[in-house]
Amino acid sequence: MTDKDFVPFIKNNKIERKIKQIAKILDQKYDNEEVCLVCVLKGAVVFYSQLLKHLKNKNIELDFVEVKSYCGTSSTGKVKMVKDATIEIKDKHLVLVEDIIDTGLTAKFMCEHFKKQSPKSILMCSLLQKPEKLSVKLDMETLVAFNIPNKFIIGYGLDLDEKYRNLKDILILKEK
Ligand code: IMP
Ligand code: MG
Repeated sequence: MTDKDFVPFIKNNKIERKIKQIAKILDQKYDNEEVCLVCVLKGAVVFYSQLLKHLKNKNIELDFVEVKSYCGTSSTGKVKMVKDATIEIKDKHLVLVEDIIDTGLTAKFMCEHFKKQSPKSILMCSLLQKPEKLSVKLDMETLVAFNIPNKFIIGYGLDLDEKYRNLKDILILKEK
């Protein structure tokens, strides 16, 4: 394995300021209606737990799904659901909380998967998106905290082969 350099990209305080704003938008959007807030493991776990702390809605149910599509720094093009949600989603607002929308394949897969369960609405709330990489049409509403260029990033939940998720800032990976 080659040595790797990390270049600072988005500092923790900037991320957390933005998450507060996202929580406000969600609270205004759903008022106190029933919302299923589903974390897409593992990458979204840090964003999700921070977002939760700021939501004031008292009608939120939590759940977790796990999907896989990446190997190293590139998408395999195939999305696999490793763990499904277990709560009842029918007639409730569904908010899928993602770390990043890259090609959009995962988002599209999740949307198709959950539409079958007849939620009242579906929103994908993603910490990041690489708009240049989007290769599919997303048939759902999205709320994105940061649009970023097409670079591989790590930290704040995002990994490279399962490492670096614990770093508090987001960094760009620079191969030596
Ligand atoms: P998509 O299906 O191509 O949109 O990819 C979505 C998933 O790929 C995300 O949930 C991430 O887990 C992973 N991913 C995409 N870009 C990056 C990145 O820059 N760093 C780390 N993981 C990434
Ligand atoms: Mg990942």
